[in-house]
Amino acid sequence: MNSLGVGVIGMGWMGHTHSRAYRQLRDRFPELDTEVRLVCCADAVAERAREGAARHGFEGHTTDWPSLIEDHRIAAVSVTTPNDSHLAIVSAAARAGKHILCEKPVGRTPRETVAIRRVVEECGVLTLVGFNYRWAPMVQYARQLIRAGYLGDITHFRSRYFEGYARNPEEPVSWRFDRSVSGTGVLNDMLSHTTDLGHFLVGPIKRVAANRKTWIDSRPEAGEQVSRVGRRPVTNEDYVGGLVQFENDARGSFEACRIITGPQQELKVEVNGTTGSIIWDFERMNELQVYVNPGREPLRQGYTRLFSNPEYPFHGHFNPGQGTSLGYEDLKTIEASRFVQSILEGKQATPGVREAAEVAAVHAAVERSWESDQWQEVGRVESGE
Ligand SMILES: NC(=O)c1ccc[n+]([C@@H]2O[C@H](COP(=O)([O-])OP(=O)(O)OC[C@H]3O[C@@H](n4cnc5c(N)ncnc54)[C@H](O)[C@@H]3O)[C@@H](O)[C@H]2O)c1
Repeated sequence: MNSLGVGVIGMGWMGHTHSRAYRQLRDRFPELDTEVRLVCCADAVAERAREGAARHGFEGHTTDWPSLIEDHRIAAVSVTTPNDSHLAIVSAAARAGKHILCEKPVGRTPRETVAIRRVVEECGVLTLVGFNYRWAPMVQYARQLIRAGYLGDITHFRSRYFEGYARNPEEPVSWRFDRSVSGTGVLNDMLSHTTDLGHFLVGPIKRVAANRKTWIDSRPEAGEQVSRVGRRPVTNEDYVGGLVQFENDARGSFEACRIITGPQQELKVEVNGTTGSIIWDFERMNELQVYVNPGREPLRQGYTRLFSNPEYPFHGHFNPGQGTSLGYEDLKTIEASRFVQSILEGKQATPGVREAAEVAAVHAAVERSWESDQWQEVGRVESGE
């Protein structure tokens, strides 16, 4: 059996999720034949590092991430800190020869993402990026249908990512609302996932026309005595929306919002082609609506609803039966399995930082568009901070 030492840096929501994913691998992906050894976890807050180690069984913990990166027992690291620290951590990890599973959006800005791409390519390490919705069995199957030509020529792509996690104006401020830490708001946090799905399902994006809105422009400080410490400005957007044109001439639209009422986690993509269509929505992640019109049956209209089962990619790693649903964290386990497999094979997998840089180039055009109120071509992004 192979052995792979890993470290996780940033023991918040994603740090715990990545740690659980690594712990699941021997059980869910036994064919990897790999013992993932949880060597060390790091967090700037000592108690979080200690608690993370106790919860997941890391051999050690630290508040000093550079020492984790220098640890010779560690071959691969997960970077699960807020966006402003990714450039420093990923660069140091790459220079130390570690393979890297980095959470999206990789860089705080498109220029940082491109700088990260350059350093990992120079160092020759393998990367994977946390665009986890690609791994849903029914998204994988949708791509297979598109690639096999069942939808014909792709004419439309629509995406929406609606959550209400910030809809309450009294929800305390966090790093996500601070441009100096997060970079853009929903563009980095949410639209990065659906832009990646657009690339995955349809192909490269050629140009965009976008607008943005911040409805809640200040929030209470986090802390116990919220009313006494006052409010802090929100410095990035609650909403982004716009139009998109792909290199293959497909047209469409995109929206993301964090203050909307109603949807819980409506990450939805729709693709239409000349002979068929698909709809996938994360709120119903085990379903795929498919319409395929062979052209011979004009009365056969409307979508068929498929439900995930072991026939579809990855499903059988979790459940052997029909109608036995997968959940969000299973996508992170699949992601971790692809990362470990790429390390074992010594082959770069997708989506790595190259695909993240392609998303970042689209988002640079989105930012230019919401400033100029004009369509903007997706161009080259210079690396830098
Ligand atoms: N793929 C997804 O579905 C998904 C979901 C949520 C978050 N994310 C991404 O994951 C990353 C982390 O988000 P989160 O929600 O887990 O954040 P979080 O706030 O829950 O956790 C971040 C942790 O990092 C620690 N930290 C901050 N700076 C640090 C530093 N310099 N060194 C060590 N530790 C540090 C914090 O103390 C905290 O414990 C972000 O890039 C975010 O965009 C991805």
